[in-house]
Amino acid sequence: MYRFKDYYHNEVQLSFDDHPFSSLPKHVWVICRYKDKWLLTQHSDRGYEFPGGKVEKNESADEAALREVKEETGGIVEKLTYIGQYRVLGKEKTIVKNIYFAIVSELIDQECYYETNGPVVMETIPQGILRDKRFSFIMKDEVLQKTMQRIN
Ligand code: GTP
Repeated sequence: MYRFKDYYHNEVQLSFDDHPFSSLPKHVWVICRYKDKWLLTQHSDRGYEFPGGKVEKNESADEAALREVKEETGGIVEKLTYIGQYRVLGKEKTIVKNIYFAIVSELIDQECYYETNGPVVMETIPQGILRDKRFSFIMKDEVLQKTMQRIN
């Protein structure tokens, strides 16, 4: 298991084991690949990030992952793979998030992308995103780096 601080100095625990922190996590994050490029979304407040969000009532985490990708990018997931899980020990609460890798086969134009401005396709994830204001804080800790290494 890895331990480090996030962008806001909250403690983060990350593991690539099978659901080490919760069998029913309430959050999901999906690293998406579309036509051999990375597929992100532009969150209205936070900026560029891989899609994700909260698991709704009567929904599994896997279902939430498919739904969030569709809502935030218009992407249709062809193949979803569980990668790992992380726990953020926030000041007010602790959250547990499943990390997935998804192959997206199709991007459908939508009127609404919920709390985002829709899909953003990138050939590479730039090196200097820690200091890049266009990127969301959730892209600015070792969860992203370690997950990308794992996917590669
Ligand atoms: P509600 O009020 O219930 O809607 O929740 P919230 O707006 O407080 O946000 P949420 O439950 O999604 O997350 C709670 C806190 O966890 C956030 O304020 C963040 O600090 C932290 N958090 C959520 N997702 C991530 C993440 O992917 N990475 C990191 N480092 N922190 C996260």
